[in-house]
Amino acid sequence: MNPQLFESVDQYISQLFHDEDDCLKATEQSIIESGIPQISISPNQGKFLQLLAKLCNAKKILEMGTLGGYSSIWMARALPENGKLVTLEIDSKHAEVAQQNFNRCGLATKIEILLGKAIDILPQLEGEGPFDMIFIDADKPPYTEYFQWALKLSRPGTLIIADNVIREGKVLLEESPDEMVAGVKRFNEYLANCADVTATIFQTVGAKEHDGMAIAIVK
Ligand code: SAH
Ligand code: DHB
Ligand code: MG
Repeated sequence: MNPQLFESVDQYISQLFHDEDDCLKATEQSIIESGIPQISISPNQGKFLQLLAKLCNAKKILEMGTLGGYSSIWMARALPENGKLVTLEIDSKHAEVAQQNFNRCGLATKIEILLGKAIDILPQLEGEGPFDMIFIDADKPPYTEYFQWALKLSRPGTLIIADNVIREGKVLLEESPDEMVAGVKRFNEYLANCADVTATIFQTVGAKEHDGMAIAIVK
């Protein structure tokens, strides 16, 4: 492992493509200034999610875990004029910061933040589905239940992505006292045995610590 090299290469890629505009930079800055956790996806991961959203021609996207809206903005920019992204957030301060970022980026009409516990809101979304793409990135212990809800809100071909499923390789531990690790391990095993999807996990390195994203397509 050479985290410095991975980080430098990540910077090389993001500088080469210079995808992160002033709006996304201001979003990152707003997260730092408001003192909310700096755990957004990286710029290159954002571009990657945007590519995936375009690849599946997404018109309706669901996100669990808004934070400052950084990942929402990347994905929402792949939406057509009448497209919509719904994002779930439990923390009203995070939601407030995110809303300001959506306003600044001209995305206020495309993105709707629903405030509350994801597990309570998800049943209310059955009328809004099916979603074309679903990004799971809220609290880690109930990832399996979030995934089960994602399936209910899907159609054949829906793309489901889950962030942070490798946790610096801690998922290799037989048992972990860390409930986030235990949560994603339970999810990974569930996903691997789920007959309703074709799925895999890819590792991620670079600006953020070593982690991984699960990617699944609904059959
Ligand atoms: N997707 C964001 C990062 C999300 S961080 C990005 O990459 O830009 C995880 C977010 O999930 C935090 O804002 C946290 O407040 C929120 N969260 C935690 N538990 C939650 C729950 N039970 N329901 C909804 N959101 C939750
Ligand atoms: C954490 C959550 C995330 O979604 C992430 O990308 C990184 C860290 C966390 O809660 O520690
Ligand atoms: Mg995450």
